[in-house]
Amino acid sequence: MDQKPAQTVLKGSNRIWENEFRLADTGKSAPAYETIQVRRLSPALGAEISGVDLRQPLGNQTFQEIHDALVDNQVIFFRDQDITMDQHKDFGRRFGPLHVHPVIPGPEGHPEILELHSDEKAQYSASAWHSDVTFEKTPNLGSILIARAMPDAGGDTEFASMHAAYEGLSDKWRHFLSGLEAEHGSEHVFGRPKNEKDLRPNAVHPVLRTHPLSGRTGIFVNSVFTTKIMGMKPKESMAVLDFLYCHIETPEFHVRFKWEVNSIAFWDNRSTQHRAIADYFPQTRTMQRVTVNSDDVPHYRPN
Ligand SMILES: [Fe+2]
Repeated sequence: MDQKPAQTVLKGSNRIWENEFRLADTGKSAPAYETIQVRRLSPALGAEISGVDLRQPLGNQTFQEIHDALVDNQVIFFRDQDITMDQHKDFGRRFGPLHVHPVIPGPEGHPEILELHSDEKAQYSASAWHSDVTFEKTPNLGSILIARAMPDAGGDTEFASMHAAYEGLSDKWRHFLSGLEAEHGSEHVFGRPKNEKDLRPNAVHPVLRTHPLSGRTGIFVNSVFTTKIMGMKPKESMAVLDFLYCHIETPEFHVRFKWEVNSIAFWDNRSTQHRAIADYFPQTRTMQRVTVNSDDVPHYRPN
């Protein structure tokens, strides 16, 4: 009987592992912290902050360290912060003016707060990768989300570093994307306004965005609000966006956060995307978010 040769494992230049990532050295050492502790949670992004009580007004040094930790880690997490809605807004206002959502109203007396609630009757889940409110001309700096009620298990949120995703591309892809712009819209998400004369906001942004503080480059298209690549035929645009959305799924670019009641996540919408894991229905999950405005119009500056 003929015997087939055993299958050989490819080595050398024919590696069987496709994904190898070496995150860029930004050339800067991590900031030194004196008033808070910062524990990195994954190589790509994410850190847990301890040593701070957000019920108290933040001193300037602590504020600056939290600000630096956000830029350095792209998303930061706090535990056991039993803050009121006013304290939530006060914390957000240290970083900039608060955003009022153009479509979804907040709780009475708190238009700056966006409540995301799910239970057996109402199922809300932002389970597709996205960055918040990118359909605005000047998208926000970041979002601060607190867990008010959580299911027994599940309801985690995943975050992805758009810097790591960019750095995981070949030079050919980086060059190709560097001249492209994309349209971001909201009507396909929120529906047409009741008054036909009112237009849902939309905007055109570069596909690659330079972070205004760190100078790092990131991918700035997302599967919820981006509608097309400018100047391309629909099939071409869809192919480019589909590839980028598939690329963003790479686990090496992620960190996953397990919530408890009074946990807070503060993410930088200029450099990350996120999605909720919708695995807990019909249990209740209630979150409240404030979003901090920015004056940075997205731009791309070649390194
Ligand atoms: Fe979101």
